[in-house]
Amino acid sequence: MTRPRRNVELKARDADPAATLERALALGASDEGLLTQRDTYFAGVRGRLKLREQDGGAEAGARLIAYVRPDGDQARTSAYRLAEVGDPAALRDALDAALGTLVVVDKRRHLLLYQNVRIHLDEVDGLGSFVELEGVAAADSDLTGEHELVARLREELALDAPVRGSYSDLLLDEPRALLGAADAVMHSAYAPYSQFPVGAALRTPSGAIHVGANVENVAYPQGQCAEASAIGAMVAAGETEISAVAVVAEKLDVCPPCGGCRQRLKEFAGPDTPVYLGRPGGPVETTTVGALLPLAFDEESLGEGGPERRHRSHQRRPDPGRE
Ligand code: THU
Repeated sequence: MTRPRRNVELKARDADPAATLERALALGASDEGLLTQRDTYFAGVRGRLKLREQDGGAEAGARLIAYVRPDGDQARTSAYRLAEVGDPAALRDALDAALGTLVVVDKRRHLLLYQNVRIHLDEVDGLGSFVELEGVAAADSDLTGEHELVARLREELALDAPVRGSYSDLLLDEPRALLGAADAVMHSAYAPYSQFPVGAALRTPSGAIHVGANVENVAYPQGQCAEASAIGAMVAAGETEISAVAVVAEKLDVCPPCGGCRQRLKEFAGPDTPVYLGRPGGPVETTTVGALLPLAFDEESLGEGGPERRHRSHQRRPDPGRE
């Protein structure tokens, strides 16, 4: 399999795009023109997956972009893969049917180039104006030069403090994104005995969302909760750290995870990991794994000879391009 491409990226709000454009041109950046982009983000994936449809510019057309990028608020490295798409409408429908759509981001982008750094002056529907710096890395780069150039441009363009997350995250604030994913999978629950469908969604540090629904059995104790199903999906995808949780039930406004699932979640989460309980669009009760399970049984409880924190040392890096 090919290695992913890499960028060093930084994003900031831009109160005065005209002034930023002037500064970038004064530095000698080349004007690559105006683009219109629509990004459709899909759910149920490892890392992030979006279909980009673009009018204007040298890269007009459609491509599928799979990427992994930590959600830090400073310049961060993004590893990504691109695939050209000939029939975007058909691909969008197929991915929506298979994975579900999280959100659609529409924007107008003024693209400038300064050495190997793309400067994006973005006007995003529903969010406003932003500047993005993308230092495109050569395959063998150790990224030092890209980080330095992005830091220098940040100074020269007098950018505001960087913002975390992607435009999709900003549009879909986290509780809504996770509750939406939990609600979608809840409709696949197998709950003929209790008639009580439940869905759970887990965000991981790679940005992926893993989902699961409850799966019951005629031998009642063999049934499995939604949270356990979602944890199984996460581990199968090679991830073992949970950064946020959402649980949705069809018949309850707020469905508190059962005692067993609190322990299951605790295995992969920290005490401050947020847990969102509610429905998409409705009121959300936000709690934490630690508040749900005080005085938890943990590795220390096993005393001397207890295992290492297995899931941290066993962490396998997610790879969006893996087959
Ligand atoms: N259930 C969950 O999936 N998660 C919970 O935390 C609470 C309960 C399921 C298990 C069973 O299939 C149904 O809800 C009724 O107990």
